[in-house]
Amino acid sequence: MTTNDPTRQTLAQLGADSPDKVATLFSELRAAFDRDAAQDIASIDLGITRVKWQGRKSGILSEITEHWLKPASKEVKPAVGQNLNALKSHIEERIARLTAEKDAAGEQSAAARDKIDLSLPGIERAIGTRHLIRQTYDELLRIFTAIGFSVVAGPEIETPYYNFEALNIPEHHPARDNMDTFYIAGARGGHLLRTHTSPMQIRTMEKQKPPVRIVVPGKVYRRDNPDATHGYMFHQIEGLAVDTDITFCDFKGTVDYFAREFLGPKTKTRLRPSYFPFTEPSAEVDATCHVCGGTGCRVCKQSGWIELFGAGMVNPAVYGFVGYDPEKYSGFAFGMGVDRLAMMKYGVTEVPLLFQNDVRFLKQFP
Ligand code: PHE
Repeated sequence: MTTNDPTRQTLAQLGADSPDKVATLFSELRAAFDRDAAQDIASIDLGITRVKWQGRKSGILSEITEHWLKPASKEVKPAVGQNLNALKSHIEERIARLTAEKDAAGEQSAAARDKIDLSLPGIERAIGTRHLIRQTYDELLRIFTAIGFSVVAGPEIETPYYNFEALNIPEHHPARDNMDTFYIAGARGGHLLRTHTSPMQIRTMEKQKPPVRIVVPGKVYRRDNPDATHGYMFHQIEGLAVDTDITFCDFKGTVDYFAREFLGPKTKTRLRPSYFPFTEPSAEVDATCHVCGGTGCRVCKQSGWIELFGAGMVNPAVYGFVGYDPEKYSGFAFGMGVDRLAMMKYGVTEVPLLFQNDVRFLKQFP
């Protein structure tokens, strides 16, 4: 403060010898305070303003009480008292309001920090879908359960008896070599990973008398060289129907029904001679191409036909292993490669896509 600071001088020294002059001095002070208080409430330092004006020791209000009020002459004292009280309450009010505003502003910015912006895009949580293989299984099971087949499952670890012998594949039969079997090291009784779902034909017939109508979905294992088109594991669905009087016509009718359900109502089928030790006669079932309808295209390699699965009439030799009378019973069986069927139907060109579980692939089949 400078020596000519008016708040450190008496009113007599300031020449304020009338109530009007006193009022003028006070209104100058008030204007000075208002300037201090007018700063942005976000930056104003209320502590400094408070000390400067309300400070007990050398705050302006204390100074003028000391220098203006106390030594004031009778003529001006009442005016000084009134003006001082008015200034005091003006300052108090103003500082209280600023304090409240500043607190509110602080709360607001804290709230702004924690605020949830509803206009921001949300975090997308993908909803899972059934895998393409599962979807295909579900479709196959629907088709066969609709005509009275029931669903059974069996072990993936099998014995050579169920995987081969009882299916009329004796030891040293060349069909064993074709199967590229995984044998389980050290397993008592020489266990293996089933190479097809056909062992469940035997397990089912062992346990129940005809009529038998089952489908068997499941994983099978073959020791093929893993490359772009072969893994160690793939999926099959086995079918078996055995009863009195089941004919080749029933077989062909079932095949036709399946092809129409799976590939569309216009689909036709044909049977090509084939060989499996456990069916006789055996056939490869072809269907007219679901893409071109039989005229020839890239998918059917211009042949108009696509290969569906292997099948045939149950070889009577198999009945001998399960105690069925081959004179009395007959039936048919089929074994489908589910991965193949899925790829064909949905136009998937690479086997690994089915197993890599890349979301970019999977979400194309919602
Ligand atoms: N089990 C045979 C295979 O995996 C398929 C098949 C099943 C063929 C049933 C005829 C009857 O190749």
